[in-house]
Amino acid sequence: MFYEVLSNIMSLIIDLTILYMVLFFLSLNIVLCIDIEINDFYPQERYALLLIRDSLNSSVDLHGNWTGPPCINNISRWFGITCSNWHVVDITIHGVNLSGYLPSTFLQNITFLRRIDFRNNALFGLLPNLTGLVFLEEVKLSFNHFSGSIPLEYVELLGLEVLELQENYLDGEIPPFDQPSLRSFNVSYNHLVGKIPETSLLQRLPKSAFDDNSELCGKPLDMSCPSSMEKNKKKLQVWIIALIAFGAALFLFLMIIAFLVCKRKAKGNETRRNDSTRYVFGAWASNVGNSEDSGRLGQLEFFDKKLQVFDMDDLLRASAEVVGRGEFGVTYKATLETGNAVAVKRLSYMNELSKKEFIQQMQLLGQIKHENVVEIISFYHSEDQKLIIYELVSDCTLFELLHEGRGIGRIPLDWSTRLSIIKDIAKGLDFLHQFLSSHKVPHANLKSSNVLIHQTNQGYHSKLTDYGFLSLLSSSNKNAEKLSISKSPEFVKRKKLTHKTDVYCFGIIMLEIITGKIPGGGEVDETTSNDLSDWVRTVVNNDWSTDILDLEILSEREGHDAMLNLTEIALECTDLMPEKRPKMSVVLKRIEEMEQMIKEND
Ligand SMILES: *[C@@H]1O[C@H](CO)[C@@H](O)[C@H](O)[C@H]1NC(C)=O
Ligand SMILES: *[C@@H]1O[C@H](CO)[C@@H](O)[C@H](O)[C@H]1NC(C)=O
Repeated sequence: MFYEVLSNIMSLIIDLTILYMVLFFLSLNIVLCIDIEINDFYPQERYALLLIRDSLNSSVDLHGNWTGPPCINNISRWFGITCSNWHVVDITIHGVNLSGYLPSTFLQNITFLRRIDFRNNALFGLLPNLTGLVFLEEVKLSFNHFSGSIPLEYVELLGLEVLELQENYLDGEIPPFDQPSLRSFNVSYNHLVGKIPETSLLQRLPKSAFDDNSELCGKPLDMSCPSSMEKNKKKLQVWIIALIAFGAALFLFLMIIAFLVCKRKAKGNETRRNDSTRYVFGAWASNVGNSEDSGRLGQLEFFDKKLQVFDMDDLLRASAEVVGRGEFGVTYKATLETGNAVAVKRLSYMNELSKKEFIQQMQLLGQIKHENVVEIISFYHSEDQKLIIYELVSDCTLFELLHEGRGIGRIPLDWSTRLSIIKDIAKGLDFLHQFLSSHKVPHANLKSSNVLIHQTNQGYHSKLTDYGFLSLLSSSNKNAEKLSISKSPEFVKRKKLTHKTDVYCFGIIMLEIITGKIPGGGEVDETTSNDLSDWVRTVVNNDWSTDILDLEILSEREGHDAMLNLTEIALECTDLMPEKRPKMSVVLKRIEEMEQMIKEND
């Protein structure tokens, strides 16, 4: 009796367990189904498109735009891509200076492709292989630099309605196209040769579809084909083409040499066109020279008495050259008669502080000495003129190093260099945070154009400049919107500024170095969102992390982990809530630990 009850209970338990398991798997299944609906895409299609994205240049930023899956919920957020049934069916990228060699077989995996439109670009190389793309209806490759012959396989595309190949450098003979579906066909303005095949389709077309191929003959053109001499003529033609090509190459070579020589000359002129400081400072400086005014002339204050001291007169006699224009004034390189050179920043918008306060602040800033911070040598204060004299750090800014001369011919900035720059900036900023701990925001104007880069035998050395300006403005923050901290969420929302506001700016610089993009869109690249960190966050959250990496470091696969680790730190630094951002000392420690780990792994 007891056993019977027990076995009944047991079987009930087993039944229930089975029921639960079935329910569990059912629910799991539902979850999986939903998952598939959201994330389903065809990796091989994405991969094929990435081949274009990463091997071609264009005036639209495909690298920034083609991120994540090409089709989400059956629509595409990718420029020029159309999806249907979660498949890529249309690639339309015309008139955007797409240049480079089109990878020849990349389209094969985009099985359901109906339309490709690359009109009006600068694509080189052979026409793409379209074998097996049975759904193709339109192929528009006109107005490019394609060469080679028209692939014979194109006649097997039985659904083809439009084939536009005009205005390229195609040669060889025309294959015998005869698809009944074909309603538009154009191969004019190429170097095609031989007899136009006598298919009913080709014979039906207007003459203009074949125009300007000097060696093409037969109907519908007016030119009839010679029967015997064709071969010889062709050989002759080859010789003439070779000769012309040689001539053209020689011409190009001479042009390049001429261009380089001119450029060098122009550069020479530019460096010679130095004006005296007195001249670039304008009316103020000429008054200073008048002896009657000399009494009013304040002295340059020097921090390091061991330095070679010069006076205002020396400075005004120096030759000057503009090296930068910032929100707070123009910076000149002043070369003194002794041959020493310094950087002179002539401040604007800083007239609100009393002389005493200004001098106090400058004396504090003047004590800062750190290898990653530009040193202030001296300053000058008068009613209408305020100068800060810095040590001269030549070469270029981080902004120029990252963004200038993008495209062909640029020397890529490799990952280890970028990492060392990030570390230098972190060291400089951490030092400022300790030294100026009483300042509300110690740097307050951190951005890539305020990081000066000096190239040494050991590599790049970075120094921060334009720091401490918030303390030189009046407390009303009236001109603070000219500082880079004005891009932070707390400034926009009129919340309290703290050291963490600098941390935000540092995070943005890190992202700029990792992605190669200009924060806030900028001139180079309109397709990124306004806020670099928003964009990076979206991409990283969607598990397409490596999409954010600058093309120039993308190939350094062994560095990907470190790059993404740093991205994570950068995203913490740019958290909307200042209190969630790490302190600068913590950030520096994490960067240094990471660098140490990389060294140990080597
Ligand atoms: C790509 O660019 C198109 C239009 O230019 C835009 O609508 C789309 O949102 C962009 N996609 C991404 C992922 O930025
Ligand atoms: C073919 O292309 C040329 C050059 O773009 C154009 O002038 C001509 O009208 C076109 N002919 C046909 C039949 O499409």
